[in-house]
Amino acid sequence: MIRSVTSISAPLPFAVAVAVAAVGLTGAGLSTAADAPATAAKPSPPADRIERGRYLVDTGGCGDCHTPLKIGKKGPEPDLARLLSGHPEALKMPPAPKLPAGPWLVTVAATNTAWSGPWGVSFTANLTPDAETGLGGWSAKQFADTMRTGKHLGVGREILPPMPIPAYKNFNDVDLEAIFAYLQSIPAVKNRVPTPVPPAAEATAAKK
Ligand code: HEC
Repeated sequence: MIRSVTSISAPLPFAVAVAVAAVGLTGAGLSTAADAPATAAKPSPPADRIERGRYLVDTGGCGDCHTPLKIGKKGPEPDLARLLSGHPEALKMPPAPKLPAGPWLVTVAATNTAWSGPWGVSFTANLTPDAETGLGGWSAKQFADTMRTGKHLGVGREILPPMPIPAYKNFNDVDLEAIFAYLQSIPAVKNRVPTPVPPAAEATAAKK
């Protein structure tokens, strides 16, 4: 039984990968972006790449942290008007409560978008294509480099917990390209996420 299931399903990922690669080739063949000025509109990626990206973002749980929760009729629910737009700019967080000594380590905002721990306070990033406050100005390569190295744009500051870089750095190139294509296809939300608060500054603020 198991053997027959395996033999049916085994060729599938290969077939999918070939299909994706073929689409990528077609896209590159049609594109004249290499010679175009940087200001030209980006050619839109094929619909199946965006769809694959949506699937990876949904299964990868990006929205758990990057889409703020709001209180709905049955309790907290993702605020879909702010899909993947990160910690809401208007929600100014007071200093995190100081935890007693013991095994509790982290506190999190009701939105699930601000996290306090030994690293200070981190706020989930705006992943929408807004040019000023989101990933609108990013290239697919900068996105992939960020996810692989755990550094902003692949070269900047270290990305703090709880962003699961140790898991996501294992996405392959095709997956990262698909995730980026999907993120660039969702509605842009203008939302400037605060910069992280280092542990020392957090401790000083809490004493006041
Ligand atoms: C457990 C919570 C959590 C999950 C799940 C999560 N993130 Fe994050 N992410 C964060 C936090 C917090 C930050 C901000 C860290 C910082 O400022 O140093 C962040 C930062 C980022 C950044 C860096 C932005 C920049 O400007 O450098 C990218 C890109 C990103 N996340 C993409 C994703 C994607 C794509 C997924 C799903 C595949 C995802 N995240 C899932 C918590 C999470």
